[in-house]
Amino acid sequence: MKITNIIGSPKPHGYGGSIEKALLGLLGHHGTKARTFELNELTYRGCQACLTCKTTSDVCIAQDGLTPVLKEIRESDVVIISAPIFMGEVSSQAKGLFDRFYSFLGPDFRTNPKSGRLAPGKKLVFILTQGNPDEQTYAAVLARHRRTFDMCGFAEVYPVQICGARPGSETQVPGRAMARLAEVAKALLRSAA
Ligand SMILES: Cc1cc2nc3c(=O)[nH]c(=O)nc-3n(C[C@H](O)[C@H](O)[C@H](O)COP(=O)(O)O)c2cc1C
Repeated sequence: MKITNIIGSPKPHGYGGSIEKALLGLLGHHGTKARTFELNELTYRGCQACLTCKTTSDVCIAQDGLTPVLKEIRESDVVIISAPIFMGEVSSQAKGLFDRFYSFLGPDFRTNPKSGRLAPGKKLVFILTQGNPDEQTYAAVLARHRRTFDMCGFAEVYPVQICGARPGSETQVPGRAMARLAEVAKALLRSAA
């Protein structure tokens, strides 16, 4: 199982990073081909709307810090992305990456519900962390991004929402998060068997 692990928080050892690490641990030796990217360490721009990926290229032609990230996503079986909620949205680091996911949509994406370019069977674990303890507050953020992930062609999307992520206990993965991660790991390992 080839895994791309992406941290969308500026704090690599925050909740998102700890939860990704815990999930990689649960995946054990199946995750040995995991490569981790810390978005905050990369230099990149959002989509430039050049539309080349809808005309003459199947991939994003921008050459910057996200180029290897997008390539690894295309070549992985499983993609794990964590993003914190900042000011009511995913962090700008994560949003910049998601805008570049536009290159994962084929030219006919408006009319063809199956226009995602990603290879069949790719799985995405999307970890959303937030300070607010109420799950419903950002449920729409999760749902909205999930819709675009589906459009890109991820075969399965496993959301993991962590609420009440306040500074101070980042290294302790909350018990209910561990239960959800165990479910997700089981599903990923089942599909890899
Ligand atoms: C600039 C900033 C803005 C934030 N805005 C929100 C917010 O709008 N809603 C919320 O619930 N939490 C908010 N938070 C809390 C973060 O979501 C929380 O610290 C983060 O999810 C923890 O994940 P991490 O440890 O992986 O960074 C904000 C934190 C920062 C630093």
